[in-house]
Amino acid sequence: MNPFDLTGKVALVTGASRGLGKGFAIALAKAGADVVVTSRTRESLDETIAEVESLGRKAWPVVLDVREQSSIETCVAEAWEVSGGVDILVNNAGCNVRKPALEVTWEDWNLILETNLRGVFFVAQACARRMVERGYGRVINIGSVTCVNGYAGLAPYGASRGGTKQLTMSLADDWGPHGITVNCLAPGWFKTAQNKVMYEDEGWVDYLTDRIPLKRPGAPGDLDGALVFLASDASAYMTGQTLLIDGGISVGAVRAVPTK
Ligand SMILES: NC(=O)c1ccc[n+]([C@@H]2O[C@H](COP(=O)([O-])OP(=O)(O)OC[C@H]3O[C@@H](n4cnc5c(N)ncnc54)[C@H](OP(=O)(O)O)[C@@H]3O)[C@@H](O)[C@H]2O)c1
Repeated sequence: MNPFDLTGKVALVTGASRGLGKGFAIALAKAGADVVVTSRTRESLDETIAEVESLGRKAWPVVLDVREQSSIETCVAEAWEVSGGVDILVNNAGCNVRKPALEVTWEDWNLILETNLRGVFFVAQACARRMVERGYGRVINIGSVTCVNGYAGLAPYGASRGGTKQLTMSLADDWGPHGITVNCLAPGWFKTAQNKVMYEDEGWVDYLTDRIPLKRPGAPGDLDGALVFLASDASAYMTGQTLLIDGGISVGAVRAVPTK
């Protein structure tokens, strides 16, 4: 018995065209799952599909814009239709706008909150409405270290991820009796398209690295173990939790205190 085995399971990964979401789809396929992968454009899913299929698993592309209510309904219905039913939802689609709080616009706020919080809720709801009929589901919301820490320049993003953590707890309480677990996987700092600009600033990367107890930013594969754990029977008695995979940066953000 391998409690991490996902053979026979179907996962739906939102925002699977690149970055962390692409990695999540591949990690789930490596563990044995077939995967419904989504993006706002069908073509951008080609690479993810090829990688999943090269592992001998099925990949179904479905178009989804999490800011559009009708798109969520259509996508989830299609996901169920093509795959026969989704066991695992990875609520990964997200965006960011980095700005000093004094410069944040109404539009910035709406973009981030509609994508990262409203989208997370309504995708989870559309899936859970179908999961309750089967009495089984694993919902994994992708959070961030901003679930638990505050950072200048990330006010709306932090609010969206603080909300993701809280939503995870509320949904876990709501849907636990239906056999659905809801947990949040909160990554630290990973280099992706979303934060490419930050990694072009070497001084900032040195500063960041210095503050990470494990002395490096996140690398591809660092989230795979935690993701598969949350998706599998290994986490059967765990719900409502936020699991930080961040090299330890969330434990404290200052240099070692002077000891003399
Ligand atoms: N990178 C990090 O260090 C980090 C740390 C903590 C948390 N996260 C979170 O992890 C998730 C993935 O981040 P990433 O760094 O991999 O970002 P990324 O490379 O920019 O990828 C974002 C993904 O989200 C999708 N997406 C964006 N807006 C969408 C919308 N309105 N509807 C549907 N899909 C949408 C994109 O798909 P299309 O553009 O193809 O539609 C893309 O696949 C995000 O939720 C992010 O907040 C990232």
